[in-house]
Amino acid sequence: MKAALAGRTVVLGVSGSIAAYKAVELLRLLVKDGADVYVVMSENAGRFIQPLTFEALSGHPVAVEVFDTAETASMEHVRQAERADCLIVAPATAGTLGKLACGLTGDALANFFIAYGGPTIIAPAMNDGMYAHPAVRENIARLKSRGAHFVDPEEGELACGRVGPGRLAEPADILAAARAVLQPVRDLEGLHFLVTAGPTREPIDPVRYLSNPSSGKMGYAIAAQAARRGAEVTLVSGPTALEPPEGVRFLPCLRAEEMHALVQENFAGCDVLVMTAAVGDFAVETVEKEKIKKNGDAPLVLTLKPTRDILKEVAQKKTHQFVVGFAAETENLIDSAKEKLRKKNLDLIVGNDISAPGIGFQSDSNQVVVVDRAGRADPWPLLPKSRIAGLLLDRILEARRA
Ligand code: CTP
Repeated sequence: MKAALAGRTVVLGVSGSIAAYKAVELLRLLVKDGADVYVVMSENAGRFIQPLTFEALSGHPVAVEVFDTAETASMEHVRQAERADCLIVAPATAGTLGKLACGLTGDALANFFIAYGGPTIIAPAMNDGMYAHPAVRENIARLKSRGAHFVDPEEGELACGRVGPGRLAEPADILAAARAVLQPVRDLEGLHFLVTAGPTREPIDPVRYLSNPSSGKMGYAIAAQAARRGAEVTLVSGPTALEPPEGVRFLPCLRAEEMHALVQENFAGCDVLVMTAAVGDFAVETVEKEKIKKNGDAPLVLTLKPTRDILKEVAQKKTHQFVVGFAAETENLIDSAKEKLRKKNLDLIVGNDISAPGIGFQSDSNQVVVVDRAGRADPWPLLPKSRIAGLLLDRILEARRA
């Protein structure tokens, strides 16, 4: 079999993290996949790993210093690298992300980034607190808005001993992202995907609302990957902290009623509906125009009315559309998912146990069971949501063809 990256030039940017050792494995995988790889290191990366290791494995001199010896002063190999097909920054520390987002120079990696301007994949690695910091979030959003692809860090034990999101993604997943950028499979061309994501928000009064902790990550990952694989994608999203993915028609909304209207409007023209949104099941019957005042210790009684079941309503009208639902359960996962698939007239349902710790709602990973109309239930292992998105798109394609 032909190596997937044969003939492609990749620059691997390594910054100063304890995860730098994983960049060695990534380099090995890239080379094995046929890529010609040049390594550029940030100022601190050399504290964790010797340039010689990268030099030996890549077969090229490594750019480390800005003003370097005679060898790098010729900059011949850096010029070569500027014609690269892709830059992968892995691991990207909080400091390096800041430099890249702000266009600062000062070390070989930051300088290269400014000179390069081509397709870029960034795999962050840092402590969970740093990863959650607004400055880091803004830098990531800024780089994404300029087209950088991110391979999100995984959750797990971090070098500092804490457990949380921040651990560099596995080299195999970063390689998969590089393959997708360098040779995207366009197997969804000609299909229109309608994807819903995030929570809905039902107002109580002008300053209060009912909602749920859905992050939107699952739906956004599906929308982003479907678009990358050539589909026309409409993403109907409740309020989330995420940036709309590239190449997607983005329709924001707040209330279940608004989401209902947008899904209805776009359903007839779609081929596949993937309903990941955590639609609120209840809305306040009478939304107060003014802020509700406290009345001493008297309890506040709200009357809630059920919202309409968007999925059930549109799926009753399906003609050629393939309809996928999600089921959030706390017990009897497979049986409840099967029951929802039947009741809502779905083609596929993805069930997840939201009572299990560390998966679902806000998390970057999930453990799901995929159930089809024939009653086949496939339990998938705990996987990053980005991976679940890819596998689910494969499964939808396979089921549509059957
Ligand atoms: N859904 C919907 N409209 C609603 C509620 C849910 O379209 N008003 C969709 C969700 O997007 C999901 C599927 O229905 O794809 C199942 O949602 P879930 O919350 O698991 O189930 P419910 O139908 O709300 O039933 P229950 O909460 O009683 O389990």
